[in-house]
Amino acid sequence: MATLIDELDPLKRAALDAFQAADALPALDQAKGQFLGPEGRFTGLMKRLGSLPKEERPAAGKAINAAKVEIETALTARREALELLAARPAHATDFTAPGRHRRLGRLHPLTQVTDDIVRAFRALGFAVADGPEIEDEHHCFDALNTPQDHPARDAQDTFYLGTPQRPLLRTHTSSVQIRVMSQQPPPVRIIVPGRVYRRDNADATHNPTFHQVEGLYVDRGVTVGDLKGTVEFVFRELMGTDTKIRFRPHYFSYTEPSFEIDFSNALVRKLGKDWLEIAGCGMVHPQVFENVGYDPEVWTGWAFGFGIERIAMIRYGISDIRLFYENDVRFLNQF
Ligand code: DAH
Repeated sequence: MATLIDELDPLKRAALDAFQAADALPALDQAKGQFLGPEGRFTGLMKRLGSLPKEERPAAGKAINAAKVEIETALTARREALELLAARPAHATDFTAPGRHRRLGRLHPLTQVTDDIVRAFRALGFAVADGPEIEDEHHCFDALNTPQDHPARDAQDTFYLGTPQRPLLRTHTSSVQIRVMSQQPPPVRIIVPGRVYRRDNADATHNPTFHQVEGLYVDRGVTVGDLKGTVEFVFRELMGTDTKIRFRPHYFSYTEPSFEIDFSNALVRKLGKDWLEIAGCGMVHPQVFENVGYDPEVWTGWAFGFGIERIAMIRYGISDIRLFYENDVRFLNQF
């Protein structure tokens, strides 16, 4: 008897130490097996109870049971502690720690330029309109008076998406002029920022997708003077008060007369030029009004369109259009 009782206390100590040393639930299970499993050390001790002389058994049994209760209580307590630990996030939150500085992202330079253009036109009472990038020939070409054999309609220049209705990726935002005028009666005062597509190979000044802003103003008695004044106001807002613009005669099928807009300022002169071509514009062609059901005897209007990338490149001195689309933070961080 003396030997069994003598062994009991050190074994209990060993079990309690092993449970305490277990730093996670699997380790605790393993420790439990070592002492309380079928082959466990404590289980072995209990099995030996039967081999004791009869008169020693009650006292020994009592001592073993007391030790077992103590061991199981310690096991349960350790399990609960480890379960709590496992449910906790890996790193406890220290609410007294100083705040961590998170760097804010910034707007893409094309978004910044677009926002500035929109802001300038909103100040003049223009609303922003929108249209689909997947267009049809009617809105992109036919209703804009573009002849069937015009090179812009060629499959070499335009992404066609199928037959027989020939859906296409819009080559310019001018298609939205038609959509808006077909849906609402005059007067109209809109600008349309949006993405357009052309079958160009990417190089420093071309990309198969880029962005334009279209403007359309329809009312009674609108003149080229209104057009020029508006364009001048907006470009001064965008490019600085030293900006001058000039109109050169040009041809677009949806305007008559048509012009190309050149502008000049310190930025342009820094590039070693006097003038840079920046946009197309003109007075809305009477045939376009007919096509959308406006009476050209009553209504007059002007329209313009320009490329947003081109403006951003001049404004920020960017020499390769592809930089806009690469999402390189070293580039984007500069704006
Ligand atoms: N759509 C023309 C282009 O993509 C730009 C343009 C020229 C738009 C004259 C107009 C306009 O509204 O009147 O090059």
